[in-house]
Order: sequence, then C-alpha cells, then structure tokens
Amino acid sequence: MIQWSVMTSPAPWPAVPGIAYGGDYNPEQWPRETWREDVVLMREAGVNLVSVGIFSWGLIETAEGIFDFEWLDELLDLLHENGISVDLGTPTASPPAWFFSAYPHARAVNKEGVPMGFGSRGMASHSAAEYVKAIGTFSSELARRYADHPAVVMWHVHNEYGVPVGEDYSELSVGAFREWLRARYGTLDALNAAWGTAFWGQNYGEWHHITAPGRAPSTINQAQKLDFMRFTDAALRECYIVERDAIRAFAKQPITTNFMAHQSFTTDLWKWAEIVDIVSNDHYLTAADAEGEIGLSLAADYTRSLAGGKPWILMEHSTSAVNWQPRNVAKLPGEMARNSLSHFGRGADAILFFQWRASRAGVEKFHSAMVPHAGTDSRVWREVVELGAALSKVGEVKGSEVRADVAVLYDLESIWAQEFEWRPSEDLDPRERIRAYYERLWRDGLTVDLAHPSADLSGYKLVVAPASYLLSAADAANLTTYVEQGGTLLVSCFSAIVDEHDAVHEGGFVAPLGGALGLTVEEFLPLRESVVVSASLDDGTELAPTVWQEDIRLEGAEVVATHTSGPGTGEPAVTRNSLGKGYGWYVGTVLSVADLKPVLARVYQDADIAPSGLPERVEVITRRGETEDFVIAINHRDDAVTLAVTGEDLLSGDTLTGEWELGAGDVAAIRTAPAAEGGGR
Ligand code: GAL
Repeated sequence: MIQWSVMTSPAPWPAVPGIAYGGDYNPEQWPRETWREDVVLMREAGVNLVSVGIFSWGLIETAEGIFDFEWLDELLDLLHENGISVDLGTPTASPPAWFFSAYPHARAVNKEGVPMGFGSRGMASHSAAEYVKAIGTFSSELARRYADHPAVVMWHVHNEYGVPVGEDYSELSVGAFREWLRARYGTLDALNAAWGTAFWGQNYGEWHHITAPGRAPSTINQAQKLDFMRFTDAALRECYIVERDAIRAFAKQPITTNFMAHQSFTTDLWKWAEIVDIVSNDHYLTAADAEGEIGLSLAADYTRSLAGGKPWILMEHSTSAVNWQPRNVAKLPGEMARNSLSHFGRGADAILFFQWRASRAGVEKFHSAMVPHAGTDSRVWREVVELGAALSKVGEVKGSEVRADVAVLYDLESIWAQEFEWRPSEDLDPRERIRAYYERLWRDGLTVDLAHPSADLSGYKLVVAPASYLLSAADAANLTTYVEQGGTLLVSCFSAIVDEHDAVHEGGFVAPLGGALGLTVEEFLPLRESVVVSASLDDGTELAPTVWQEDIRLEGAEVVATHTSGPGTGEPAVTRNSLGKGYGWYVGTVLSVADLKPVLARVYQDADIAPSGLPERVEVITRRGETEDFVIAINHRDDAVTLAVTGEDLLSGDTLTGEWELGAGDVAAIRTAPAAEGGGR
C-alpha cells in the first residue's frame, strides 16, 4: 500500500465534498465492534471528515523506534470503505511515558523551576534536541506510511501549540533563548540598549549571564519578558516546521495545526497563519458568558482574518458542555446549530467537534460529544444528525467569502506587553477592551475583520484600535497614512504608549499618533477601584466612564465629550481630529458597551457606515459567492423576529419575499442576489 510519492504543491482545501462535518475521533478507547457501530452512525449523521491519532503517540510508537501501525491501518481502511475522510494527526502534543522516562531532562520546566511530569498531556521542551528529533522521526514515519492512503485528505500537526505547554524555563530553553537574542541583537550593547538595562544596573557583559524571566525578587525587566514571549512563540513555530517539512517530504495534502484564536495567548497567530496551508481553529464558549455568541463571533472573525478572508476550518467545538470550566453549562436546544451556523457564516467551510464519542474513562469523560454517554436516543444525537443534514444542504456556499467595512486591530505583542505588571492601572484590560469595542460593532450589526496594525488597511471605512499600548513607530505611521488617505480611525486610551521594546515613545504618550489624533497625553489619571465618573457628549448625552481619565494636550483635535467629574474634570473624554481626507477619533477613557453606542454612532457618520438596525441578538452575515450571495441569519432570541431578505432558504427550501419571520432560536441560510460592492476586501 505504501509508496514514496513525489512532492507537489499542497492542495488548497481537503478533498471533501461540500461542507466538511465531523470531529476528533479517538477509537483507540473502544473495541472493534464499537468502530463498526461508529462508522454506521457517522454515515447516519452525514459525517465526512474525522481527525484521527492526535494523542496516539504511545499507541503507535510503543517503544522508541518501534512502530505499530496495524490498528491505524485497519481504522483508516474502515473509514475509507465508509466514505469518511481523515485528517491525520501527529500526536506530538503528548509524548509517551517511555519518552519522558528515557529523557527526563527534556521535560519543560515551569516558571517556578518545577519540571512538568508525565500522567497528563503536554509536550516536552521545545528546545530539547531529543524531542525535536523524536517529532521529526514520528512525522516522517507517519507520512511515509499514509501519504498515499486514499482516506487521508489533510494533516493535523500537534494540537493547539502553546497549550498546555508554552513557555519553558528549562536550561535547554534558556540556552536557545540566548541564541535567539544573539541573532536578534547581534551585540550585547544592542541588547542592553533595547532592554534599557542601564536602569537598576541590569547591564549584561556576557551572553551566558542572561536567563529566562522566571522568578526574581521584584518585577523583571518587561523588555526581557516580551522577548521571551517572542522567543517562545518562535521556538514553537520551529517545532511545527520540523513536522510540516517531514510530512511534506512524502505527502501532498494540506497541512494545518489548530489555533485557539482569542482563547489562548501564547502564539502570535498572524505569524502562524503564514506557515500553515489552511487556517483551522478551535472554539469553546465561555460558559459564564450568557451571550456566548459574541465571543464566538470575535474568534471566528479573527480566524477568517488570519486566513486572509479565505474559508477556514472549525477544527473543534462542543456539542454541549465542556468539562474544564468552573461551571460547565450545557447548550440549550438549538444552540449547537446556532453556534455552527455562526462559524459557517463567518467563513468556516468545515464544522468539526471534539469529540465523536464521549470517553468513558480519563480526564475528559464529562465533556460532551457527538455520541453522548446517553447514546443515540438523546437530544444531542438528534441535533447532531439534524446539523449534518442541514450542512449537506449548504454545500454551494463553500468557497464564498465574507467582506467587512470595519477592522479591529489585534496585535498579540501589545496584549502581552500591556498584561505585564507595574502598569498605571490593572483595571485597564486589553482583552476586555477588544471585546467591548468588538461587542459594540457586533450589536450594531456590522461585519468586522481583525487586522494587524501593519496591515494594508486601505479597504476599510473604519479601523478601531482598542488597547494598542505597544505600537511601533512604523505601525503608527501606517495608521496615520490610513487617515490621511480618507480612513476613519478610532483609538482607545492607553494606545501608542511604547515601542517594540516596551520603551515609552520619544515625545511622550501617544506621540506617534499625535498627527492622526491631533493630541498627546500629558498624564494618566487612573481611577480608584469601582469608581464611576461622568462625562457629557456635546449633544448632552450623559456617559459614565470608569477606570481611567487623562490629562490631554489638544493639538488640533476638537472635543466631542468632556469629563464632568473625577480628577480629570474638564478634560476631553472623546475627541475628533481631521487629517488629510480622513478622521482620527480618540476615546481617552473606558466606556461600557452601552456608552460606546452614542460615540460610535458619531464615528460611523465620518466613516459613512450605518448600523444594521437589526433587533438585539440577531446575527446576519453575508458570504459572497461568484454569482450569488448567501445570507446566514441566526436568531439568538427567545422570540421571533421579522427580516426582509429575498431569496431561497437553503435549509427549509422556502422562497422568501417581503417580510418574513425567523422563529425564536432559528437559523436560515438564504441564497440571494449579490449585494452592491463594498466591504474591506
Ligand atoms: C481542546 C483540545 C481537545 C480537548 C478539548 C476539550 O482544547 O484540543 O483535545 O481537550 O479542548 O474541550
């Protein structure tokens, strides 16, 4: 069966007809009769793609260099005979017991200096030569054997890099960190200058004196910490590339690794997106959030943006509850379909779950699955079958793209830097601010891309920069050009404060955006915990800012809202500047999602965009095909709403004209005439 194949360029999308549907399949937990039952049920549910082998290292390489592929041969053949394609995993996120026993020094070490042992899952040190050799060997052997297996349509390298093992403080990692720094800075003088080590006498005279920023008596130099985060990310990417290249030597199917967009913060996904053939993402609802669809949309829009607007794969989500949050809330009837359709509407052409059949043993036994412990006479199973049937009706949507007029800037380096300690206020949380601005746009019914501040932003009518604390001079110049050329930029407080080394910009706070915003900031005026102050928009609308005020030095901007209480009384809270053909707006405080509404309404006028006017909690997204558009409508409310999209609902088969009702909790996927051009891409 196995032959060497000639390397060709990767296929753009796994060879699966229509929208891919399925999930992680871990049948090694079950006897052969269950496998046979599984494939029958998969066919019943319309499953056409499963991810196999993601954690099976110890079952395949049973001792170092000893490979047992028999069970996997049998499994892939069985799946193929039943028309189910395979996304074949490399199980390198979880080395086997023999590996840790043979190479104890290859274990990753946590910040406290404790080596992380076996009995769970998690990779070894990214910088351990034995680990890197072992993953290369395993990936080669797997690809050599299965590159030409007809079931295999895609490769799934590792699992969620950075989770649960990201930073490694071992000696091996420290050695690699020093090498990485040498390559970055060339000389110790350059490193000392970049890190500002003259302060606190931290100057280094020898490379081998540099360590990882683990534990120290007081706060560790933040420039060093930032570089350690960058190094960690780069080291993980190198591990991915070792595996990717080992597979590519044999196989031509697309290769991916599953991201956790805006749910894990170790890997800089803009960089990762450049090294995968297809972007794929895992998403789990935050159970504590009663409106989980907003966080889901943010993650999905970010993932699509990482994919450059192209379709992407939802590699994992859950049919119902997860098992690892404090309170694992089950999904409501219909919620799984609404979640799935939201990912689909936002560009996912594959809807997959963790996992196919609920585990009876092990740490994830209380996690929901496509086949729950209750079996097929259950609500979850019936909804799984219904979703498979629904997705089989929307195959023609595949390949269509979402376009957005608005971009929200997203730079992980800025989040990292802002989350270090000794900042002006721990209440100013970059993730919360990104969510708040995104949520406002979501509630206003606007479709949003996420973008790095260095990206070409010229196609967007509005760019929002929440929490852009670290902004390089070059990226600030990019934003300024965007405004000059006619864009509308909205920047939130505590942005453009430091450069890429976490050093305050010359010229002071906000200086590199001074031209775009028509102001700089003289002093921050953070508020005591839970204090709410007041501000007033120039039309009299009252606002209730929290967390933060500033002493702003106006340099051309007009004041749109003014603080009326607190230490910043009389200071601007919101300003507007005109530069070239565009506008630079600044919100110098923290406003709630509700208070952002009247402010954004003003900003939209400059950007020439309008809120959709849809009722709250109704999601409508358009995917644009070559000759037709597809409107995905999701009603998260518990009452019906009236919509007016004309076309055919691919799910119900109904022809829709005039005004029609979308029932409580219902979804629709409407083929419609193409809308006028517009949107960011
Ligand atoms: C994911 C992981 C899966 C499974 C899942 C449970 O992060 O990739 O293997 O553990 O979480 O929600």
